[in-house]
Amino acid sequence: MIQVRNIDRVLVLGDSESGKTWLAKTMIQAIPQNQLVVITPYPDEFTNVQNRLVTVFPEKALELIIAVLKDGNRFLVIDDFDILFERDMSAGERALKILLVSGRHASIGWLIIARRTTDIPKLMVKQATLLFFFQTNLGLDLQIIQEMFGAQAAYTVQSLNWQNHECLFLDRRSRESRVIIV
Ligand SMILES: Nc1ncnc2c1ncn2[C@@H]1O[C@H](COP(=O)(O)OP(=O)(O)OP(=O)(O)O)[C@@H](O)[C@H]1O
Ligand SMILES: [Mg+2]
Repeated sequence: MIQVRNIDRVLVLGDSESGKTWLAKTMIQAIPQNQLVVITPYPDEFTNVQNRLVTVFPEKALELIIAVLKDGNRFLVIDDFDILFERDMSAGERALKILLVSGRHASIGWLIIARRTTDIPKLMVKQATLLFFFQTNLGLDLQIIQEMFGAQAAYTVQSLNWQNHECLFLDRRSRESRVIIV
């Protein structure tokens, strides 16, 4: 089982019902409650997390992201980023860029969940150290995966077993890559 540490930068991508939130919940179990911050659009998810903001408004989410950047030593989970923010990050470009690029200098790790690779900033894919891709047949998404991780990765993502909640795990640090089921 993969447990993330508070310095990790994690990206989880997959269609609705693929198992993204489930995977995220299992991976953050080792993060202490006082470091964990969750932003989610859904009142019924992450209910056991003390520091949880349920919102669909980017300005509310940004307030919390800016507070996290100020405090440091936090692990920030954003579920369904694509509901909150546009691909060009227009609502909060500066704060989001700082989070993605230099959050680690303030000991801020993140785990960001989104449905489509085409709906998130490319910077997010570039900055992530651990990536999880669930099955997709969507051409533009597969094209981005191919561009960034090679033809074999794109082929693997297309071939994953959807029913079993399989996903492709890529670790940029160790260059490990394997298919996993949580
Ligand atoms: N690894 C798993 N093993 C068994 N069941 C799973 C697994 N992952 C997900 N599920 C089941 O699939 C359902 C959908 O999972 P989950 O809510 O994590 O999907 P999601 O990708 O977050 O969907 P959405 O985009 O709609 O939020 C869950 O209710 C859960 O019951
Ligand atoms: Mg979900």
